Amino acid sequence: MAAKTILVTGGAGYIGSHTVLQLLNGGFKAVIVDNYDNSSEIAVERVKGLAGQFASNLSCHKLDLRDREGLEKIFASTKFDAVIHFAGLKAVGESVEKPLYYFNNNLIGTIVLLEVMAAHGCKKLVFSSSATVYGWPKQVPCTEEFPLSAANPYGRTKLMIEEICRDLYQSDHGWKIILLRYFNPVGAHPSGNIGEDPRGIPNNLMPFVQQVAVGRRPALTIFGTDYKTSDGTGVRDYIHVVDLADGHIAALNKLEDPKIGCEVYNLGTGKGTSVLEMVKAFENASGKKIPLKMADRRPGDAEIVYASTDKASKELNWKAKYGIHEMCRDQWNWASKNPYGYGSADSKN
Ligand code: NAD
Ligand code: UD1
Repeated sequence: MAAKTILVTGGAGYIGSHTVLQLLNGGFKAVIVDNYDNSSEIAVERVKGLAGQFASNLSCHKLDLRDREGLEKIFASTKFDAVIHFAGLKAVGESVEKPLYYFNNNLIGTIVLLEVMAAHGCKKLVFSSSATVYGWPKQVPCTEEFPLSAANPYGRTKLMIEEICRDLYQSDHGWKIILLRYFNPVGAHPSGNIGEDPRGIPNNLMPFVQQVAVGRRPALTIFGTDYKTSDGTGVRDYIHVVDLADGHIAALNKLEDPKIGCEVYNLGTGKGTSVLEMVKAFENASGKKIPLKMADRRPGDAEIVYASTDKASKELNWKAKYGIHEMCRDQWNWASKNPYGYGSADSKN
């Protein structure tokens, strides 16, 4: 059987680069479209290096998704079996300051993509949604049927794109769409060659911890110590990025199910871990002490969020394999080998 060809938007980014590697290792051909707004061409080169004999099955275009003409050309030259759509801006604080920038990039990028897909008869999509759509859940674990909300423009783009996809499927049952709600992706490929490399001050916990460990920042600020949790700090469902990447292969396989329409699945481990537990696990894995500063809660943060994994396990036949020890071990391996990510000390703060 001929190898399937997958278009991966945002494939040079953190989750995209890990997914592209798993695709290549799984015998797929992959074509990346990325404007490198929050990523580096070095990541793509490293993915090729890790893919060995499969490297020739990867090609990459520097392109903004909103460049309809450019995207049309790519679809005209290659027949895609499906699209995995990661491309988007994701910094919550920035989205509050610049909502139009977020709506323009995330919504218009997605609409142009869907229109070009439709025009070329490619109607299979896997989209990166987020557990952020559960807001502050009234109970845990979060099942896919929970009420949805958005606390900021970033979250609203995820919610809106989910709704756009549901409407699109209603209008044309030829579409097959899987919306994946990621919980908290962390860690890196075990090689330590690819990982997360955020621009500026990290918003998320583990990139911040990693930068403290390599000496780029003096201390981690803990946002809130008075939550109703075992140690007072917030609880989340951290998932190893390689497990998450594998979840996309499971979703692509599911798109072959004739009964699939527009479906949503949580990708998490089903386990909750507090901020302090995560810091301890990282200290154990790295042998580094992380200095802490206790602070007030961060506005918009939920207390406890973790996934129900039943639906993904039953219908996608996918389950996360790794625990927080492996997440922290691989995060540290990446950080210690690449203290300045894909850049150098001169190029970063
Ligand atoms: P990332 O920033 O590392 O990757 C996104 C990629 O998309 C980047 O390479 C960026 O350059 C590219 N991009 C952005 N706008 C583009 C455009 N208009 N045209 C072309 N390329 C564009 O982020 P990530 O952590 O890999 O996240 C991937 C997706 O998953 C995003 O949609 C994000 O919102 C979603 N998500 C991430 C998390 C997380 O914690 N990392 C959690 C839930 C959902
Ligand atoms: C955050 C975003 C969410 C987004 C997700 C993945 C907010 C309010 N929510 O979620 O929309 O989908 O990232 O990108 O920004 N923490 C600290 N100190 C830090 C950083 C985080 O104590 O410097 C704590 C947080 O309070 C939280 C936990 O660590 O309890 C995890 O935080 P984070 O990694 O930002 O993820 P989320 O809060 O789940």
